[in-house]
Amino acid sequence: MEKNEAKSRIEELRKRLNEANYNYYVLDNPTITDQEFDSYLRELENLEMEFPEFDSPTSPTKKVGGEVIDRFKKVKHKIPMLSLPDVFDLTEIEDFHNRIIKENVEPAYVCEYKIDGLSVSLHYEKGELIFAATRGDGITGEDITHNVKTIKSVPLKINQPIDIEIRGEIYMPKKVLEELNEKRKIDGQPLLQNVRNAAAGSIRQLDSKIAAERKLDTWIYHLPNPEDYGIKTHEEALHFMSELGFKVNKSANCVVRGIEEIEKYIKETTEKRSTLPYEIDGIVIKVNSLESQKQLGFTSKYPKWAIAYKFPAEEVLTTLRDIIFTVGRTGRITPNAVLDPVIVMGSTVKRATLHNEDYVVMKDLKIGDIVSIRKAGDVIPEVVERKLERRTGSEQEFKMITNCPICGSVLEKKKDQVDHYCMNPTCPARKSEALIHFCSRKAMNIDGLGIEIMEDLFNLGFVTKIPDIYALKEHKKDLIELEGYGTKSVDNLLAAIEDSKGNSLERLLFGLGISGIGDKTALLLVKIFKNVDNLMNSTYEDFKNIKDIGPTLAENLYNYFHDVENIALVEELKEIGVNMNYLGENERHHDLISGKRFVLTGTLSFTDRDSLSDLLISYGGATSSSVSKKTDVVIVGENPGSKYDKARELNIEIWDEEKIKSIVDNL
Ligand code: IVH
Repeated sequence: MEKNEAKSRIEELRKRLNEANYNYYVLDNPTITDQEFDSYLRELENLEMEFPEFDSPTSPTKKVGGEVIDRFKKVKHKIPMLSLPDVFDLTEIEDFHNRIIKENVEPAYVCEYKIDGLSVSLHYEKGELIFAATRGDGITGEDITHNVKTIKSVPLKINQPIDIEIRGEIYMPKKVLEELNEKRKIDGQPLLQNVRNAAAGSIRQLDSKIAAERKLDTWIYHLPNPEDYGIKTHEEALHFMSELGFKVNKSANCVVRGIEEIEKYIKETTEKRSTLPYEIDGIVIKVNSLESQKQLGFTSKYPKWAIAYKFPAEEVLTTLRDIIFTVGRTGRITPNAVLDPVIVMGSTVKRATLHNEDYVVMKDLKIGDIVSIRKAGDVIPEVVERKLERRTGSEQEFKMITNCPICGSVLEKKKDQVDHYCMNPTCPARKSEALIHFCSRKAMNIDGLGIEIMEDLFNLGFVTKIPDIYALKEHKKDLIELEGYGTKSVDNLLAAIEDSKGNSLERLLFGLGISGIGDKTALLLVKIFKNVDNLMNSTYEDFKNIKDIGPTLAENLYNYFHDVENIALVEELKEIGVNMNYLGENERHHDLISGKRFVLTGTLSFTDRDSLSDLLISYGGATSSSVSKKTDVVIVGENPGSKYDKARELNIEIWDEEKIKSIVDNL
């Protein structure tokens, strides 16, 4: 093909593909078939390869991804990307409305859906997308252009050759998360908990191919410089952005006047919410007149002309089929609700903890009740209440059990305590839970010895007490013959078991499962006592004199290390070759980590919070879950919570992802 001919064909194909993208992804109104689209795209790709002089960063071929970056560059926002103050009920909306009226502002608002995703700032020069950034801390974001380019509803070229900044939300459709999690389940990967984290994780990929596969989408809702375009109201701004080619939620956005109309909008949206193909977590109410917005101004954190009404956590009804009891490693008995499976916030719920007898009595639950379920903190399912009006009379009373469901021994409940305990130290349930705990990630971290395998090994009699784990190598042949365990996985498992012998003492101390000794206390103790003999030879007073160790913990520790069976266990593990010393300080030290207290908030792209916490601890740092004056450093990822604000308030050192990553990379 001749050059000129190629040029005009390239232009034509780009035009057709851009139109098709727009019709399909922005207007949700496909005009050509998938086959036609693919064939145009392939033809364009070939022509661009043959005639690289006509390549363009805004060609629709750039939407498939492929660009890989080595780190996220920081971008300072010209206009800060503020968030909105949250309100939770109508009274707070009325307060907002009254403040508006008091300022002599006309109470005309635009109500919009609050999309559950992450905000993005898009920059166009002469009508072409030049870069896209995350919100970050509102002042500085990260350059995510390579990934945003792959989002089909983001135009690479808009309908006017102007310089403009546009803001909106990147989100993951509900269905995409479902499909992604199905796949992750099959691959044995941890499931993504909600659309927001999934979208944030996808946009923080260095390789844009991965982001492209995640099928992200956008809703555009904010024009930072409306006066540059002679725009007078937010409604006009939305219309203007839509005309430019952006995906604006026309069927959802609505101009309303006064409090009754806001209320009506909330009611209608609440009813529609579960049928939407994307998650919304509330409603945004914005003063419509831009002149009035200017007059109202900003606080240090928020605009005074808008609020976000947050929905109460989603509740779904289902039947409480049964209440069953499980036995933990300390012998504690937990009642659990067995539910007819229901989908709550995108995942299926079949079980929910009912904590203890008092909890079930307090909630007045009967078997057969219709109950409402919600996810506390978006993740853990919780039974909210039984629906009294749905009772038929055939429901069965809840009765607390008196005997251990596994070994049958009589349960005990100590005075003033809510929990029942199985006191039988040889109860199989307690023993297998204790073994699972010993191998768990924060304890001896034996990869491959999870709940199911351990239960198998326990039931087969291969592992009934901790030292048996280290004797598993003698059963190698039997293990390989077991269904589901190949030679390779058995080899890996045995290697992980051998490796665990070299762990620093805090892991063993936590793994022993001494009542009240969590991983952090275990670390505190081994830092002081250094080896297991010092722990065994300590008195009650020695333990009690330690800051952060109260009388109960001191007693538990003293009793544990003076029990003949426990002493025998430790001696046996010593014989086997399990390390009995604290290795931390000798092995690992880092000037920026050792001796400091860290708090982690937000999502990190290169690691998860638990692993980073482990790493910091292994270098002599400490982590805690809340920010206080004692905190030395707050590590802030994407979408940080209120801990970040608190850190700024208290003037605590803040490390962003780039900083912590560079430290971790050089460890
Ligand atoms: S307006 C200055 N409109 O909610 C106003 N935000 O807490 C900027 N969000 O950071 C925001 N849907 O990520 C606005 N229709 C909507 C929104 C929306 C979701 C997010 C956004 C923002 C946060 C505010």
